[in-house]
Amino acid sequence: MKAKRRVAPAVVGLFAAFGFVTAGAKTQTSGTAHMTVSGPVSSNAPGKKTEEQFKNIQVLKGIPAEQLIPTMEFIGASLGVGCEFCHVHNAFEKDDKKPKQTARKMMEMMFTINADSFEGNRVVTCNSCHRGNAMPQAIPAVMTDEPKEAVSDPTAADAPTGEQLLDKYLQAAGGATAIEKVNSRVMKGTVDFGGKSVPIDIYSKEPGKRISFMHMPEGDSVTAFDGHEGWLGMPGRPAREMHGSELDAASMDADLHLATHLKPMFSEMRVQASEKVGDREAYVVMGAREGKTPIRLYFDEQSGLLLRLVRFGDSALGWLPTQIDYADYRDTNGVKIPYRWTLARPNGRFTIQVSEVMQNVSVDDRKFAKPPAEEKGPGK
Ligand code: HEC
Ligand code: HEC
Repeated sequence: MKAKRRVAPAVVGLFAAFGFVTAGAKTQTSGTAHMTVSGPVSSNAPGKKTEEQFKNIQVLKGIPAEQLIPTMEFIGASLGVGCEFCHVHNAFEKDDKKPKQTARKMMEMMFTINADSFEGNRVVTCNSCHRGNAMPQAIPAVMTDEPKEAVSDPTAADAPTGEQLLDKYLQAAGGATAIEKVNSRVMKGTVDFGGKSVPIDIYSKEPGKRISFMHMPEGDSVTAFDGHEGWLGMPGRPAREMHGSELDAASMDADLHLATHLKPMFSEMRVQASEKVGDREAYVVMGAREGKTPIRLYFDEQSGLLLRLVRFGDSALGWLPTQIDYADYRDTNGVKIPYRWTLARPNGRFTIQVSEVMQNVSVDDRKFAKPPAEEKGPGK
């Protein structure tokens, strides 16, 4: 199924590079078969269009240039291939490889299918057929395991509502009063990926600021959000600014009071089929947001704690998921916080294990300031 899964090149790929950018895909309106997002996801970037920034754009015209790479990532994830499957090294504009030409035809086909059969909503994507393979499977697979017993109906009448689950989570996490008392948090731990382990320090401070320093052998890899702007720093490279859904994600990660802010964030909530997260049974809540991609939350049926959060970055062809699994919850000054989380994307994953947490200590605001920029690189 998941053929040719590549190991992400480096932490760069895991942590930062090629952010997922939200912006209105002008080729089609956003939406899925399961839940419609209200209107196209908007962009506030007045920047260039793809055809203005790149050399040989024939199909993906009229979309913000910053969405091209997420769109390419979406294609790669859907087909289970790397960039070089379609591209000549260091000459992305060239059409030398047959799969690149096929991909253009496939985009046209996808737009036509959605226009003709799904009222112009982006229902069918590359992944609908490809499912991680360059060659889609036309023939169903045979059963390889013993048949399982039927699962109980998850959306049974006695299932709790989204509101009830969010309330239970808030209580389980310590309650609004205790959570709102936390105004800063400093964490020390390690990032584990591909058999390596690297020290990390994370500083968070109200209102909504966060910065992490991953201590790589060649220097610090930094992910930062100052409450408004976000940026990514790599050793020996200029800082790169975050856009669209990257910013959206960073602001959520930076929110020390997220448990109290979830309810007002959603315009609609829907409880979906229960699912297993590890060995825990979880209620799944899909929360729709005005003008943004939805969020899927998995709450432990027993403890009520948040086990998993899935968010989506938009691209011109479909959504790119980021899944965060929270574990090792410990009581710290009256609030329950996860000491371990695993962040997974189509192109990589890493786990952060925290060993030490300090709360309500003083953290200088200057810590979150962007370094003086010389970021007039050709990329951004
Ligand atoms: C399945 C084929 C396929 C894969 C895999 C793929 N691309 Fe593309 N890429 C295309 C096509 C097709 C275009 C041209 C789109 C158009 O004409 O609208 C393109 C265009 C581009 C361009 C614009 C080049 C220019 O100057 O015109 C860049 C940059 C790019 N891709 C980068 C990437 C990166 C980075 C990856 C890996 C993450 C990747 N692509 C993976 C098919 C692919
Ligand atoms: C409706 C189903 C469907 C959708 C949607 C679809 N594809 Fe395909 N694609 C196929 C099938 C089927 C084949 C194999 C055709 C064949 O056997 O020659 C294929 C083949 C390809 C190939 C050639 C693979 C190779 O090994 O040479 C590329 C590249 C490709 N698709 C890219 C895309 C991209 C990019 C998208 C999204 C824009 C997409 N496809 C959407 C069904 C689909």
